[in-house]
Amino acid sequence: MSTIRNSKTKTFGILTSGGDCPGLNAAIRGVCRAAQDRYGMKIIGITDGFRGLINGNVHQLNPIDFSGILTRGGTILGSSREKPFKHAKGDEDVAGDKVAAIKETYHKHELDCLVVLGGNGTNTTGYRLSQEGLNVVGLPKTIDNDIVGTDRTFGFDSALTICTEAIDRLHSTAQSHSRVIVIEVMGHKAGWLALYAGVAGGGDVILLPEIPYDVKAIGKHLEDRAKTGKTFSIVVAAEGALSKEEAKMDKHELKKYHAENGPSVAYRVAREIENETGMETRATVLGYVQRGGVPSASDRILATSLGTTAADILAKGKYGHMVALDGDKITTVNLSVPESKVKSVPEDHYMIDTAIAVGTCMGID
Ligand code: F6P
Repeated sequence: MSTIRNSKTKTFGILTSGGDCPGLNAAIRGVCRAAQDRYGMKIIGITDGFRGLINGNVHQLNPIDFSGILTRGGTILGSSREKPFKHAKGDEDVAGDKVAAIKETYHKHELDCLVVLGGNGTNTTGYRLSQEGLNVVGLPKTIDNDIVGTDRTFGFDSALTICTEAIDRLHSTAQSHSRVIVIEVMGHKAGWLALYAGVAGGGDVILLPEIPYDVKAIGKHLEDRAKTGKTFSIVVAAEGALSKEEAKMDKHELKKYHAENGPSVAYRVAREIENETGMETRATVLGYVQRGGVPSASDRILATSLGTTAADILAKGKYGHMVALDGDKITTVNLSVPESKVKSVPEDHYMIDTAIAVGTCMGID
């Protein structure tokens, strides 16, 4: 492979930030191998996301570091939820100091660019750093699949497989005990994982943050099922799903309500169903299992393609952009596109109609 060396061999920093997911290491490998093999670039690994950039916790990455990591879960760089621009009221200068520290690390190591792999928050921070004059390339990742500007994020397919397998397992135990089982999957603001896993796993009820549920509608659906001889049911709930009553509460009322009734939607909904129908109901919170382990083949392909494209646009000096999936093509969007936004499930999304068409209750009449 010929190495395209431009007048000045570029040096870039790479970091992973926010919730980890399967495929992150595949993406790191894609960026680094293309950058080094195709462009002869120097690579600086940044530990634990933006925290490492603030503290100057960086180290050069060599081929041995990103060899053999395609199938490894997690991130070899470590991650954190450090948000440099976020500060408590009146602590503006704390944010200012963090941004100044980031700039100091960036210039001290003579970085030509920063490659940030992350979700909404990470790409928003990347955009704000680009407004501060740093060269930034963003790369979307999250199991939530809720990043505006890309059709899909790696991490989602792997988590979908994990959730679907869990739902399959719950069917057999729910049937054995003639129970209703509520499984809570991740997705705080957007219900993509619950929707797709609910359809893939044959969930009888799917609850999304986007559609506040009515426990009476759920109860009627479950009772109608029971009348047809179905003595068990599976409810798939996104962790951010809310009842109609909760959806009307402000932030403080909701916090108080959850403090009194439990932070887990699965346990709240299970109790509400049991009170409404008298049916024996249990809850399962799938939690961090969804973020762990080996990436699926689809996530490896997407992560690698996004990674190599990030190296290409970095070599071209096309900063201030996020690489993205558009249909079956890899493209780029301005980093302002995902900034401070969440890609929610639209109420008219075809997968909702698909779920309803096979008899799924979406938590409302
Ligand atoms: O953003 C991905 C995600 O897994 C969400 O689905 C979940 O709500 C959140 O991260 C959990 O955050 P943390 O890893 O900080 O507990």
